[in-house]
Amino acid sequence: MRPVKVAVIGAGPAGIYAADILTKEHESATVDVYDRLPAPYGLVRYGVAPDHPRIKEIVKALRRVLSGDRLRFIGNVDFGTDITFEQLRKHYDAVVFATGAMADRPLDIPGIDKKGSHGAADFVSWYDGHPDVPREWPLDAESVAVIGAGNVALDVARMLAKPADEQLTTEIPANVYEGLKANRVKDVHVFARRGPAHLKFSPMEFRELSHSPSVDVVMTEEGFEIDDAGQAAIQAAKSTKLVVDTLLKYLEKEPTGAPHRIHLHLMQAPVEVLGDESVTGLRTEVMQYNGDGTVSGTGEFKEWDVQAVYRAVGYLSSPLEGLPFDHATGTIPHEAGRVIEDGAPKEAAYVTGWIKRGPVGLIGHTKSDAKETIESLMADLEALPAPAGSPDELLAELRAAGVDLTLFDEWERLDAHEMALGEAEGRERIKVVSREDMIAAGRATAAEAAATA
Ligand SMILES: Cc1cc2nc3c(=O)[nH]c(=O)nc-3n(C[C@H](O)[C@H](O)[C@H](O)COP(=O)(O)OP(=O)(O)OC[C@H]3O[C@@H](n4cnc5c(N)ncnc54)[C@H](O)[C@@H]3O)c2cc1C
Ligand SMILES: NC(=O)c1ccc[n+]([C@@H]2O[C@H](COP(=O)([O-])OP(=O)(O)OC[C@H]3O[C@@H](n4cnc5c(N)ncnc54)[C@H](OP(=O)(O)O)[C@@H]3O)[C@@H](O)[C@H]2O)c1
Repeated sequence: MRPVKVAVIGAGPAGIYAADILTKEHESATVDVYDRLPAPYGLVRYGVAPDHPRIKEIVKALRRVLSGDRLRFIGNVDFGTDITFEQLRKHYDAVVFATGAMADRPLDIPGIDKKGSHGAADFVSWYDGHPDVPREWPLDAESVAVIGAGNVALDVARMLAKPADEQLTTEIPANVYEGLKANRVKDVHVFARRGPAHLKFSPMEFRELSHSPSVDVVMTEEGFEIDDAGQAAIQAAKSTKLVVDTLLKYLEKEPTGAPHRIHLHLMQAPVEVLGDESVTGLRTEVMQYNGDGTVSGTGEFKEWDVQAVYRAVGYLSSPLEGLPFDHATGTIPHEAGRVIEDGAPKEAAYVTGWIKRGPVGLIGHTKSDAKETIESLMADLEALPAPAGSPDELLAELRAAGVDLTLFDEWERLDAHEMALGEAEGRERIKVVSREDMIAAGRATAAEAAATA
């Protein structure tokens, strides 16, 4: 096998697993993993909720990969702004795109753009300290609607309902703690358009909803309908049965009188966000089963008195400059990980993770994605024309063009700095939020870092 140099764009789990598999399967492969941020790990760092530290532990395994001999992390380089496919192709044998998703899928109902109507992804980016979003978040509503019945809706409902001080053991930065401290939310209403057997919650995350002593989970029998397709789903998947069992427990449980409540509403589809300029309510339509797991409206409507609406109806990937994009699915068209442009594979271009498959699935699922993509890349290698330049020439070109790229040792110093900030307060970590501060912490000398921690 000839030596091969590969660029991976996106240092989330999909990109890191692709780099891992490639360097393990090809003894002389070297891989540069680029990210637009100075920190790696994608949605593990900027999606997984701060009160899920156990899941965030996966970064330890991802770090082991990134610190490998034949891998480099190159941060603060935005594909499409700082670097193009043609540039990469000139210096690498192949490019794997693993840019994931960061935006909200739109929800096309009247009033969705009113003040107080938010995308879940934006709220997640705020509470997870993403450098590219505003530092303040309005939390002045007492009653809030969350639309959607997936795990992101659960994260959002929990983060809205839980008091700030319960979050103070986590890695949240000071601006997020202050924002949550000012939170006036008492009631969070979660709306699922389907019934118990078609919720997309993971059983453990769903049970966890009631773990805060400050939060009651409240529901009534309304909408507790299971059609034949639902019965079949319960028989087919243990996780579905566990979610339904948990719902039944919530149904039976008497509220404890906790100061915050999460209300679960089933078979209610959102049809309009109400209000003049700002949100004053949500109108939903009561749904009925069609017999195959799908639902349609009954013509009966309800109005809910809420002052903010969060849509958690799925994430959405963004198109990448110079690459094909399917706007309906929000993915790059591919066959077994080979990017398909105008009906044929685009030379040396591959795709993996959420940008390949769509924004569904857990961290672990990106491993099998990466495996398929790297198998295709390995099968094509001998036929790929060797690049004219080298990765180091490209880094020199980028620096000369003023791109302030960051390397793995800078991330390691930033990582250590965040952990030192946390240790001082008896926490695992406190995140640094602004891009400038992230870069500065990565470049501080050991003495400076000790002085600021
Ligand atoms: C809110 C939320 C919570 C979640 N919680 C869990 C959980 O608890 N457990 C679980 O198993 N799964 C969870 N998931 C799912 C999990 O995060 C995904 O399965 C996984 O992160 C997808 O990996 P990815 O690498 O494809 O994308 P991402 O994780 O999105 O990584 C993509 C990377 O590409 C970079 N990038 C994007 N565009 C560019 C560009 N133009 N140039 C350079 N770099 C770029 C991004 O900065 C990012 O680092 C959660 C998802 C969300 C949305
Ligand atoms: N802790 C964790 O493990 C964790 C945390 C967060 C995210 N994740 C994972 O990340 C992925 C993305 O999660 P997600 O919650 O964004 O997506 P998701 O699991 O696809 O859930 C989206 C929800 O939005 C609903 N929805 C979509 N369009 C709607 C509309 N027009 N009106 C009303 N409801 C609508 C869907 O209902 P229908 O089913 O009826 O379409 C579904 O309930 C998932 O695989 C999830 O498991 C995991």
